[in-house]
Amino acid sequence: MQVLRTIPDVRAVRAQAQGSLGLVPTMGYLHAGHMALVRAARDANDHCWATVFVNSLQFGQNEDFNTYPRDLPRDLALFEEAGVDVVFVPEAETMYTADFSTYVDVEKLTDRLEGAARPGHFRGVTTVVCKLLNIVQPHRVYLGRKDAQQLRVIRRMVRDLNIPTTIVPVETVREPDGLALSSRNVYLKPDERQAASVLYQALQAAQQRFAAGERNAETLRAAMHAVLAQEPLVSVDYVSIADDESLKELTTIERPALASLAARIGTTRLIDAMELGREDTTPE
Ligand code: PAF
Repeated sequence: MQVLRTIPDVRAVRAQAQGSLGLVPTMGYLHAGHMALVRAARDANDHCWATVFVNSLQFGQNEDFNTYPRDLPRDLALFEEAGVDVVFVPEAETMYTADFSTYVDVEKLTDRLEGAARPGHFRGVTTVVCKLLNIVQPHRVYLGRKDAQQLRVIRRMVRDLNIPTTIVPVETVREPDGLALSSRNVYLKPDERQAASVLYQALQAAQQRFAAGERNAETLRAAMHAVLAQEPLVSVDYVSIADDESLKELTTIERPALASLAARIGTTRLIDAMELGREDTTPE
């Protein structure tokens, strides 16, 4: 496995890579969810590349950029073991020169949910992902379904800007109690970790009602709130039943929809999502 730190090095190695290339962009501190992305990328492509970059641009002023968990040696060992061919690990200055002044902004879709709760977050995500795609030029990019809005925003950017790559969504990997894997789970104290499974239970409550034929979105939101309310350590940021494509809140579900939520447990903010009405009805 090659570890590259500069853009000229990436371009030189990329030029030699014949056949298809699948990219797994990450902010490091890998867990089984990332490894599922790697497996999907490795299985479907001639080359599997990954990036590790904690992107300051997608963190708000009062967010956890400085404390975001980092362990590059462990990440590299895991990538190597999983069969990744190349890892690009740029320094901040490599990605953002002192006079950096060009940003990618996906409008409307980013006004809601995470975009409303974290102003500027998606501008940071789309800017860095656009740069990584320009640098690596992968045929396919692997993203987790847990970050449901991120997936849709990046897909929209790729479509709108005609970036020649395909976005491949990968199922959320969950702990046995349903908690979606996230690098931020490491922040949870033992009692908070136990409480955190209520997020999945809330999504399941919506999915079960949907599967039983309920199409009133407010009824599903109320069901999610009722489950979350049972856990005193959890403070709800938002609960949403939205159109799967536009992410606009729904009154009645007539097309595929997305159930999603964000909640704080202590100082940790977690998100999770589940699609409603997707063909295979697999949880996100
Ligand atoms: O999902 C993440 O880890 C990040 O948002 C991403 C896509 C790597 C961009 O920094």
